Amino acid sequence: MSNTSKILVDINIDGTNHFVGTMWHSIRKNRAFSSFQYSEEWQANPVAFTIDPVMTPLHSKEVFHSDKKALFGCFEDAAPDRWGRMLMRRTLNDEAKAQGKHPRSLTDIDFLLMVDDISRMGALRFRIDTEYLAAPTANTIPPMIRLRELLEASEKVEDNPEARKLLLTPGSSLGGARPKATVLSPDKTLNIAKFESSKDEYNIIRWEAVALHLASECGLCVPNFQVENITVSKTDQRTILVEKRFDRSGVFRIPYISTMTLLNASDNDSENYSYLHISEKLSEISNQPTKDLKELWKRMVLGILISNTDNHLRNHGLIHTSTGWRLSPLFDINPNPENRNFSLSIDLEGNNDIKTALKVAGYFEMPKTEVKNIIRSIVNTLQNWKHTARKYGCTTSEITRMAPAFEHAEFDRALSITT
Ligand SMILES: Nc1ncnc2c1ncn2[C@@H]1O[C@H](COP(=O)(O)OP(=O)(O)O)[C@@H](O)[C@H]1O
Ligand SMILES: [Mg+2]
Repeated sequence: MSNTSKILVDINIDGTNHFVGTMWHSIRKNRAFSSFQYSEEWQANPVAFTIDPVMTPLHSKEVFHSDKKALFGCFEDAAPDRWGRMLMRRTLNDEAKAQGKHPRSLTDIDFLLMVDDISRMGALRFRIDTEYLAAPTANTIPPMIRLRELLEASEKVEDNPEARKLLLTPGSSLGGARPKATVLSPDKTLNIAKFESSKDEYNIIRWEAVALHLASECGLCVPNFQVENITVSKTDQRTILVEKRFDRSGVFRIPYISTMTLLNASDNDSENYSYLHISEKLSEISNQPTKDLKELWKRMVLGILISNTDNHLRNHGLIHTSTGWRLSPLFDINPNPENRNFSLSIDLEGNNDIKTALKVAGYFEMPKTEVKNIIRSIVNTLQNWKHTARKYGCTTSEITRMAPAFEHAEFDRALSITT
């Protein structure tokens, strides 16, 4: 697959596939490059839009070249990240071993094209000729009823080839590093199921649900989600977070880009960017800038107050609606009791405090008269964090362990500013 040089890119909008353009991929001196050109069909299409902010001049014959990375951001967003890549790499190793062969090394383009087409993130689809890659195999998207089986597989994935095989199709379509799988709910819509990991020191998944619940009570837009508790032994339970996929509406696909793509940034690049960079781009590209900027500012304040430190550029995204791009629902928020080293700061000085949030509120089009009231309402909601945690089954000792994430000097400052 790594010899593939020409890939046709379609986008599925409201159930119809449109030919968007052609991607060429090549490897020179061990470095991968790609280029892309919009198709004439797409340029003439009334529903056309730029699929990646790097490739903006839609109505031109221009060929765009990826300079910083092997793939353009919008294609990276449709490819697996650490968890999915691990599944793919190890499954191919298993197959090679069974055949007595050496496993081949996989490139970014291989990872992109191996993702299951049905559950692929966003609305882009890839083909060499007519058939979408990767075509469905017998191993398709499992129903939610099989969550226990998938959970057990995710726990055996390190040393069990069968477990890897089971998870490959449903597990590799989404980004991120945590164990996860796409599952079908009874109404046949796609969901993301996130599992606990054997490496976790505490129940991160349960706290993610607590954080999502609190965020929703703060009036932020979060995906519909539910928590499944699975008893694995007399003394042991596992938590699974199941969220509706916001890049699907029924069976229709919704285009998606991460803020890494929005800013043409790379992994581990977060220190060169800030919330202010996102707000600037969002105000250019969003079809509802005032609403999105306010939502982003509130997410930033919530993040500071619940110590959501893993807020890197892949953990914010945009979806495309019939009227343009807008902020996606909030996802992957995790209170961190251990430190307050945020991946992404408010500004390039690395500030992550309420005073700076107030100072920059104007860049988020926040009316001066509203900011303190909004912080007050977020603070009031968060003061109930222990109550919410108990509702999700967190024990007293788990709550004590998590307290530093919610009870810290910055929370007190937010409280005093608003009282
Ligand atoms: N509810 C959702 N709907 C659609 N895509 C999602 C949803 N939640 C997360 N994603 C996508 O899946 C990726 C991985 O999910 P995430 O929660 O960030 O996992 P991890 O904790 O492993 O980083 C995200 O970067 C985002 O692109
Ligand atoms: Mg993530």
